[in-house]
Amino acid sequence: MMIRSRIAGCGSYLPERAVSNVELAERVETSDDWIVQRTGIRSRHLAADGELTSDLAVHAARAALEHAGVDAGSIDCLILATTTPDNTFPSTATKVQAALGMTRGFAMDVQAVCAGFIYALSVADNFIRNGQARRALVIGAETFSRILDWEDRTTCVLFGDGAGAVVLEAVENEGTSADAGVLSTHLHSDGRFYDLLYVNGGPSSTGTVGHVRMHGQEIFRHAVTKLSEVVDEALTANGLTPADIDWLVPHQANRRIIDGIGRKLKLAADKVVLTVDRHGNTSAASIPLALAEAVADGRIRRGDLVLMEAIGGGLTWGAALIRW
Ligand code: ACO
Repeated sequence: MMIRSRIAGCGSYLPERAVSNVELAERVETSDDWIVQRTGIRSRHLAADGELTSDLAVHAARAALEHAGVDAGSIDCLILATTTPDNTFPSTATKVQAALGMTRGFAMDVQAVCAGFIYALSVADNFIRNGQARRALVIGAETFSRILDWEDRTTCVLFGDGAGAVVLEAVENEGTSADAGVLSTHLHSDGRFYDLLYVNGGPSSTGTVGHVRMHGQEIFRHAVTKLSEVVDEALTANGLTPADIDWLVPHQANRRIIDGIGRKLKLAADKVVLTVDRHGNTSAASIPLALAEAVADGRIRRGDLVLMEAIGGGLTWGAALIRW
């Protein structure tokens, strides 16, 4: 017998205001056609003035706790993946901890941009596997709209705001690929590519928050090869093949990247959970947002094999395989 973590519940939250491509075209020189063809994005949600990353995170966390049927007081560790914290410090995780009424355990932020949720899931999974926590709350929450350059059409059309969360808890089983839980997580980074996607500000460099800067085509190229490699790595580590996958829940950056991975795995289109059309790229929030949707509408069921993958600034990338 071994200890594993399993997902006991999930939830998500989107800010009320949805902004269409047509509305963006009033702000920068772009078109619905260009955005849809290159990215698959039709609309995204943007946080209201005064609505912070922690607010989105708290909504998503409450939904996940309710879905799992557990109290915030029973959470041993809260891991929040975000690139857009409320403040430089303390961690946004500690603010969320207090808002949820958690007065015990520990909370921390994890920073891996668009790969943040996979990183945070891996951190929590390892705390549970080694017995340092029995129950964890893993959240991805972002207000990317606050770090966009709204004059730069090459980036501002791509992103949206939102949050998603899962409750992880310890289970004991044989630890085979047929047993419930997180089968494995696989993380990578390569800081040589720091300048491909970054924010041109920060507390130690400029003292300002800065704006997103991106070399889109190079990111695209790295995404396809690195995601394919890490997916192979995850399947091989568990003695599984693409034919075993029931659901791909990918980071939602660009429809063309997602379709490329789906084709490589020879997955039927209806096995790929897609939200990028309505959410845009919500960075660390995109996977738990997509997961919560596919669980709520009954697509993902107990026993299914779920593959998650993501790549983001750093570069950072990773994958997770979960027996639901
Ligand atoms: N509307 C209209 N035209 C635009 C826009 C826009 N919003 N943005 C760029 N263009 C123009 C460019 O100026 C360029 O014009 P030019 O030929 O006159 O110079 C033309 O469109 C083509 O630009 P490219 O950058 O070559 O377009 P490309 O086909 O590479 O698509 C895109 C750009 C969508 C950013 C693509 O490279 C991409 O998706 N890359 C991946 C980046 C990504 O997903 N980043 C998210 C963060 S990282 C992550 O989550 C994986």
